[in-house]
Amino acid sequence: MIATMIAAHGGTLIDRILQGREKADWEERARDLPTIPLTDSALSELDNIACGLYSPLTGFMTSATYASVIGKMRLPTQTVWPIPIVLPIEADLAESLICGRWAALRGQDGIIYGVMQVEEIFPRETEAEAEAIYGTIDRDHPGVARIYAGPRSLVGGQIHLLTRAADPSTSDHRLDPQETRKLFQEKGWKTIVAFQTRNPIHRAHEHLQKCALEMTDGLFINPLVGETKEGDIPAAVRMDCYLAIIKGYFPAERVLLGTFPAPMRYAGPREAIFHAICRVNYGCTHIIIGRDHAGVGNYYGTYAAQEIFDRFSADEIGIIPLKFEHAFYCTKCDQMATSKTCPHGKSDRLFLSGTKVREMLQDGKDLPAVFTRPEIATILKQWALS
Ligand code: ADX
Repeated sequence: MIATMIAAHGGTLIDRILQGREKADWEERARDLPTIPLTDSALSELDNIACGLYSPLTGFMTSATYASVIGKMRLPTQTVWPIPIVLPIEADLAESLICGRWAALRGQDGIIYGVMQVEEIFPRETEAEAEAIYGTIDRDHPGVARIYAGPRSLVGGQIHLLTRAADPSTSDHRLDPQETRKLFQEKGWKTIVAFQTRNPIHRAHEHLQKCALEMTDGLFINPLVGETKEGDIPAAVRMDCYLAIIKGYFPAERVLLGTFPAPMRYAGPREAIFHAICRVNYGCTHIIIGRDHAGVGNYYGTYAAQEIFDRFSADEIGIIPLKFEHAFYCTKCDQMATSKTCPHGKSDRLFLSGTKVREMLQDGKDLPAVFTRPEIATILKQWALS
């Protein structure tokens, strides 16, 4: 059965990956072009633009787009876009690049991954960006720290990709939007719920996923595998956890696992919108937004990432957010619940903070089965003790 697919964000799924003769010609030409070095995160962003994950973007943002995104959460076309996708460069390089000319985009490994037509070089408005995107200029915030740590010049322009970047998780579970769309159609899924995560799946996650799967045709587990902050569990370890939970606790034919190769920004509400838009591009119709989605510390309200969706019409975002309250295990109900379904008090609810979980793992203790499935607990314990 062929299911109808939702349109990409902005209407067209972008494809800036060069093939065949065109690719060979550009590879030849790129050798003589000035070089723009890419960090691993910038390389992921390049690849994400090129494969259509960031549709309708076709390059790194220029100043008008950057200002519009910061100020209005929109591209100059008025299409909703909440997060700057920019390419920082060092001051001496900023001075030597010539607008209108092409440049080669080179990875840390020396490989030329793409080319860019330099359209504009402009200053990063670090403080205004931090305030607008993260709601704070506190450098203890990992997203804010990241932009303050980088160079202050930005280069914008259209890109083409010559070589695919490796998936940051080093697993073979990367699926491009074109591929997920094809797979969803082949499976006959009309409604697909996306699950964004930067953590191993614990029982609360599983609860949300299974509630969502009761109302949709398929679940797309789409863990973020790009750069995360210190203390978050490495993507490769998490991939083992995802595979184990799918094997043990999900009907295989109703779940698809694919990595989301973007860096984590910890931008809470704005990042929730960004996550939603990327999942539209993958072809998903729904996305789970739980408590403090993409949050860190106490920077955002518990449900701020849900509330922000109310600022846009359903057509503008194109995906339905499934909003979940804080889920926990209740000893009296003897099941996962939220305050919408459980009448018992706080003392009956199991809550383990990230810090507590790390401490338990480092002490070689087993995480309780009502917090995380034993298969996952074993993988995490082995990793913590390795
Ligand atoms: S995130 O940074 O990717 O949002 P995490 O992996 O912890 O972090 O969360 C994945 C998704 O599950 C997010 O939508 C988050 O809001 C939701 N979530 C995580 N834990 C809970 C919980 N206990 N109750 C409700 N939602 C949760």
